Amino acid sequence: MSHSFTKLSADEAAALINDRDMVGFSSFTAAGAPKAVGKAIAARARTEHAAGRPFKIGVITGASTGKSLDGELARAEAVYFRTPFQSDPDLRKAINAGKVEFVDMHLSSVAQSIRTGVFGKVHWAVIEACDLAPDGSVTLTSSVGVSPTLVRSADRVIIEINRTHPVELRGLHDIYEPADLPQRQPVPILRASDRIGQPVLRIDPKKIAGVVESRLDDEVSPFSDVSDVTRRIGANVAEFLASEHRTGRLPKEFLPVQSGVGDVANAVLGAMGVHPDIPPFEMYSEVLQDSVFALMRTGKIRFGSSVAITATKAQQMEIYANLDFYRPRIVLRPQEITNHPEVIRRLGVISINTAIECDVFGNVNSTHVLGRSLMNGIGGSGDFTRNAALSIFTCPSVQKDGKISTIVPQVSHVDHNEHSVNVIVTEQGVADLRGKSPHERARLMIEQCAHPSFRDVLHRYCEASKDGHTPQTLAHAFALHEQFLLTGDMRNAVVC
Ligand code: COA
Repeated sequence: MSHSFTKLSADEAAALINDRDMVGFSSFTAAGAPKAVGKAIAARARTEHAAGRPFKIGVITGASTGKSLDGELARAEAVYFRTPFQSDPDLRKAINAGKVEFVDMHLSSVAQSIRTGVFGKVHWAVIEACDLAPDGSVTLTSSVGVSPTLVRSADRVIIEINRTHPVELRGLHDIYEPADLPQRQPVPILRASDRIGQPVLRIDPKKIAGVVESRLDDEVSPFSDVSDVTRRIGANVAEFLASEHRTGRLPKEFLPVQSGVGDVANAVLGAMGVHPDIPPFEMYSEVLQDSVFALMRTGKIRFGSSVAITATKAQQMEIYANLDFYRPRIVLRPQEITNHPEVIRRLGVISINTAIECDVFGNVNSTHVLGRSLMNGIGGSGDFTRNAALSIFTCPSVQKDGKISTIVPQVSHVDHNEHSVNVIVTEQGVADLRGKSPHERARLMIEQCAHPSFRDVLHRYCEASKDGHTPQTLAHAFALHEQFLLTGDMRNAVVC
């Protein structure tokens, strides 16, 4: 029921937002982003620009959004600041062209940064919901993100009621915000399925400037078919985890799993799902994507704790038609809690994320191609990797038809360092780096993970530096990258 609040069209809502305002949007991946207001702000920017007036906003979200928000705003040149994560091709172009200031940050830290004013004043929160009660309580839709903190910190709030999500989603969310420092208490989650907060997000009704009705689907892209390479990566991860379980390094009940988004993550979960030696397990993750729900149906995944349901339309319809089955198996939390170092460490999460490149010592670059061009951002990979009981990175051993080795002498940008990264998996094999010195790590990485066409050059690199704890030769550390910049192919790189 939203009758006591002012009804607005999306254009009327957009007209309330001013040039240089800082706007926080609900969302985490394309799930739960306010799409009608996003498009209307972009249209407003175009009109203002055509009239010769400046119009750009700062944008804070949970993580990435869909094409109606980041995409539309970027194409309308309506963004001057963006944090903490994005995955839109047009926004990425604008960031890499220096037209948008982008702050890449750990997703667990975003709420704290908003609360302490790191991004300045938050003028507006625009929140997608499926229900709004007269007292200002809303039931969120397919994600929670940083919405609890946004609505508390923002001057005013616009609610986009999206009728594609049923009001019966009430009960899926668990809204909990830690107390401000120094009064903070332990987060009382002892199992992935524990609920510690409220099913609804309470908003001061006086802050609600208006309510916009919409009926627009979450813009989640379908997955590519599993390729031979991603299938082999998935099989290698699954077999490694099964052997950890067989040898007793993982407890018999298994441990909760965090898995990233995308095709590799989908292939990894698929392979874990059919591996006979991996027992039914729980997810303590940021996203639940299609493969998770299929495995819930088979009983292989017992429970999913997440920020978002990042499901394709068909999968979302299946979930919404079977809420009685899924409700006891899913909880959606704020990212400050799903990605909380304390909880991840306590539960002993197995983290599985994808790298852009890894070096032979185990440092990982998740974010910048050739050290320069932002891809998406670190997202939650750092929150999980640093605190996991077992941290795994996956990637294909080569990219761009074999011209790029993803295993390099030194990463061109460091997101996760060798002290936090336990295991690296490519389609070639598995390098378990735990308990290994830098010389041992390098040998394992080259033999187990690098593509055969790059093994000689990587061995030569390490052999050139006989002394020292880490076989590094600074003058040649980026020889592969430089060769790519010069010729478009790393394969003829000369080292030492
Ligand atoms: N050098 C140059 N280009 C590279 C590269 C490298 N070392 N590694 C990847 N790429 C390119 C690919 O060729 C591809 O390019 P294309 O779009 O032109 O085809 C693109 O980067 C994406 O790579 P792909 O292999 O399709 O991987 P992906 O979609 O699984 O994404 C990451 C990989 C690393 C970009 C993605 O997982 C990510 O953003 N990670 C950081 C955030 C994160 O880990 N979140 C997890 C918690 S949800």
